Order: sequence, then C-alpha cells, then structure tokens
Amino acid sequence: MEVGNSKLIDITELGDERGLLTVIEGNISVPFEINRVFYIYKTLPGIRRGFHAHYKTRQALISVSGSCKVYLDNTRRKTDVLLDSPTKVLILEPNDWHEMYDFSPDCVLLVLASHLYDAEDYIRDYDKFLEVYGR
Ligand code: TYD
Repeated sequence: MEVGNSKLIDITELGDERGLLTVIEGNISVPFEINRVFYIYKTLPGIRRGFHAHYKTRQALISVSGSCKVYLDNTRRKTDVLLDSPTKVLILEPNDWHEMYDFSPDCVLLVLASHLYDAEDYIRDYDKFLEVYGR
C-alpha cells in the first residue's frame, strides 16, 4: 500500500509448533542494503518524535512489539499509518517528513536504515523540507 512516497508491506511469518519467526534480508525483503539498526522503546506517554526528513537515508520501520503510529507528509499528502504487527513493514523514503506517536507502553519500534548515522542527512526544519521537496 502506498503511503506518501513510502510503502507499507507485509512480510511472511514463519511459524511452527515452537512459535513464530520473521526474517528481513537487505536488498530482498527491504529494497536497500541495511547498514544501521536502531530501536525505540520505553517511549513515555504522549511523546511524539521524529519531525524530520532525509536527503538519502531509506528506512524500514517495524513495531516488533506493541504498536505506534507514523505520520507522513510528502508535501502534497499527509497520511497516518498504524504499525501494530511484527509483519508490517513501513518502507520509509527519504522525502517523507515523518513523526512517530501513540506508542503503546510495550512498543519496540525497530528501524533498519540504509546509511550510517549522519546528522547532515537530516532535514529538521519544515520550511527547508518544503524548499527541498515541495513542487
Ligand atoms: P533523534 O534523531 O532525536 O530521534 P528521533 O528522530 O526518533 O526523535 O535521536 C536521538 C539522539 O540519538 C540524537 O542525539 C541523535 C542520536 N542518534 C544517533 O547517534 N545515531 C542514530 O542512528 C540515531 C537514530 C540517533
């Protein structure tokens, strides 16, 4: 499903009598090489985070436990996405402004990123975002 410039995909759950397992491989399940992994957890009630876009970093967001929502803005459309399953993957493109919110207390939001951390790759000013990606 298209959401902003990004895409929400479902990945296959592998299960047997022991329980469940889900696999994500770089350049296969996600359309980029994975160079960085981070996770956001124990987010306090009412917190909203993100508030940026990127120049080059592509990301995959998965709520591996609990749930949260992601607000996306591609300068033309604003969309809200619910991540409430370890098999739902949001392939987040650099040109979508994003904010994460409504974290459940047990939410662990796993983020796979195409590039190493680089503060210069962030667009944190909304007017700058419109200047770079607006019409
Ligand atoms: P921040 O960008 O504020 O998180 P969010 O966009 O989710 O609100 O990141 C919090 C801090 O962590 C900030 O000081 C930058 C640092 N950080 C790294 O050092 N490496 C990383 O890969 C990330 C995502 C953040």
